[in-house]
Amino acid sequence: MDFNLTEEHLMIRDAARDFAQNELLPGVIERDEKQQFPDELVRKMGELGFMGVMVDPKYGGSGMDTISYVLIMEELSKIDASASVMVSVNNSLVCYGLEAYGTEEQKQKYLTKLATGEQIGAFCLSEPEAGSDATSQATTAEDKGDYYLLNGTKNWITNGGRSDVYLVIAQTDRAKGHRGINAFIVEKGMEGFHIGPKEDKLGIRGSDTHTLQFNDVKVPKENRIGEDGFGFKFAMKTLSGGRIGIAAQALGIASGAYELALKYSKERKAFGTEICNHQAIAFKLADMYTEITAARHLVMQAACDKDNGSDYTRSGAMAKLYASKVAMEQTVEAVQIHGGNGFVKEYHVERLMRDAKITQIYEGTSEIQKIVISRSLIKE
Ligand code: CAA
Repeated sequence: MDFNLTEEHLMIRDAARDFAQNELLPGVIERDEKQQFPDELVRKMGELGFMGVMVDPKYGGSGMDTISYVLIMEELSKIDASASVMVSVNNSLVCYGLEAYGTEEQKQKYLTKLATGEQIGAFCLSEPEAGSDATSQATTAEDKGDYYLLNGTKNWITNGGRSDVYLVIAQTDRAKGHRGINAFIVEKGMEGFHIGPKEDKLGIRGSDTHTLQFNDVKVPKENRIGEDGFGFKFAMKTLSGGRIGIAAQALGIASGAYELALKYSKERKAFGTEICNHQAIAFKLADMYTEITAARHLVMQAACDKDNGSDYTRSGAMAKLYASKVAMEQTVEAVQIHGGNGFVKEYHVERLMRDAKITQIYEGTSEIQKIVISRSLIKE
């Protein structure tokens, strides 16, 4: 398959690679331990154009394509998946959602700051009782004339503490099922909006994940996104693109682990030779490289579909399903190749293994991806 990587694609990939090596690698172990990510690094990612990769330059974005986006995501994720999930949510879910479906006023007011990284966004769909089953929203938004009264709880919200802008999905008319759901723009600091404590996670520990509470938050009517009842489709359409970003994240985690394993196996000696010369290791490397290459094809296919204006819901779900499986399996292999050293933090592969797991869970579990793929096949 010809992915038509241009000079610009290679330049942006190299810029992301340099940033990851020079700015993300130092301190990544400490950030993981302390569950921190400095604002300074977010600001730098904004300056490089990583926070609004595909957004039209007239709204402060970089005006690049989805191929560029997945190249950036892969490079950042090789080193620090906590950084890349912030980039992914801000780009795929928040900026895309506003650019594709927001009003001109909403774009001017919010998108222009989100696309430059001056502000950060979060996407609030999941609830304690509505993760995979996204139509069962318990959060309500009651129409009060010129505002909606928002009440409920959202959890597992990436960028939950550090965001300025929150896209919140809520039920406005339960009787209408998924057509009674709307999406709203909520600002940090609105009265009644509370940010709960940070989750203590297995992986992507540098990124902040919070539960959010909305108690009688008055959301102005002009903050609803799209026509009345569009919220569920808004969420689904936005997640279709989001899954391409997470697929690229999984690809990056897998290829980062592979690169470390290859290097280690060429340096580490056992039984009189570098361990890469033993078939037990060489075959693992062959499998890793093959599977990662297959995952890359699926990720690039989905990105090409989006750039070509083709439907990308199925190809994005396939890319996420497969790349996340590869990430999980191949990071385990990378730890195995490192032996005891793989089990300690300074060799990085244990972190990549922990980070890999979430790619099989967020923006739809692997089981949800199979539902999306199989439904699209049956519909054909
Ligand atoms: N694009 C456009 N429309 C879509 C769509 C898509 N991808 N998927 C569904 N729809 C439409 C359907 O066409 C249907 O519309 P009509 O009634 O007009 O025909 C409507 O939406 C309802 O669709 P379904 O009947 O298929 O809905 P469902 O209740 O069976 O759910 C599901 C389908 C795929 C399981 C969906 O609920 C889903 O994707 N769940 C997972 C949600 C998810 O990914 N959560 C992750 C949280 S976000 C996150 O992780 C962000 C983060 O912080 C990292």
